[in-house]
Amino acid sequence: MGSHSDPGLPIGVFDSGVGGLTVLSALQRALPKEDFLYFGDTARVPYGSKPLEMVRRFAWEISGYLIHQGVKAIVVACNTASSAALPELSGSLSVPVFNVLEPAVAEAKAVGGQVGLIGTEGTIKSGSYQKQFDEEIWSKACALFVPIVEEGLWADAVAKRVADYYLHDAPKDLGTLILGCTHYPFLKPVIGEVLPGVRLIDSAEATAKVVKAGIKKNPAGAGSVKHFVTGDLEAYTVLARRLGVEVQQAERVPLDEL
Ligand code: DGL
Repeated sequence: MGSHSDPGLPIGVFDSGVGGLTVLSALQRALPKEDFLYFGDTARVPYGSKPLEMVRRFAWEISGYLIHQGVKAIVVACNTASSAALPELSGSLSVPVFNVLEPAVAEAKAVGGQVGLIGTEGTIKSGSYQKQFDEEIWSKACALFVPIVEEGLWADAVAKRVADYYLHDAPKDLGTLILGCTHYPFLKPVIGEVLPGVRLIDSAEATAKVVKAGIKKNPAGAGSVKHFVTGDLEAYTVLARRLGVEVQQAERVPLDEL
C-alpha cells in the first residue's frame, strides 16, 4: 500500500448502495485515467430513512475501510451521508474528502434565482443544504423516487405521476432545483416535464468537476473500478447493470469487517 498522498492510488467513492454509481460515472467521464474503489453499503441501504446518527457511524466505518485499502481521496457519493457526516469527516481523515452537497450548493448559487431542493427524508430533515443559503429555500423529501429508479421505472408513467405528486406545489417562480439524492439524475427528464424551465442541478456532475480540480492526478492509471458491497454480490451486479454500469471486479465485505 502506498502513502495516502501517492497520486497513483485509486479514489475511494462510497454510497449506501447503487445511487452513488451516478457520481462514479460522472467521475469516470471527468477523470478517465483514474482508478476507483466503489463501496456500496447494500446490506444497510437505504440511508435516507435512518437516523442521521446511524448514517454518520456508517460513513466513518466505510471511510476507515477505504483508507485501509489505500486511497488518495474519498468521495462521499451520497447526499444523506454527506448531510450526516460533514464536516467532521472532512476534518478528521488522513486523505482529502469530497462530498456531493457543497458542489451542488455552489452551482445553485451561481445560477441564482429562487432555489428548491429535493432529497431523502434524512437529507431534508438534517437542514444540511438549507443552512447554506441566506434565504429560506423550498424543499421536499421524495421517498418514492429511490425505489422507482432502482426498479428501472424512471421513464415509466408511474415516475411522472409520482413526480407530479411531489412537485405540484413547488413555487411558481422556482428557478433552480437541486437534485439532492444520487438516484435523481435518472429522473431528470420526468422532473423537467413537471417543472419546465427550471434548471436542475445534478450533484454528480457538479461533484466530478470539483474532484477533478482538487485531486493529485494519476500519471498512469488504467481507469479501473473495483466494487465492494456489504450485501449480495449478484443482486448488486444486476441492479448496477439496470442503471447502466457493468460490474467487472467486485468483492463482498461482511459488515463485521468494517
Ligand atoms: N444515496 C442516497 C442519497 O443520495 C439515497 C438512497 C438511500 O436512501 O440510501 O441520499
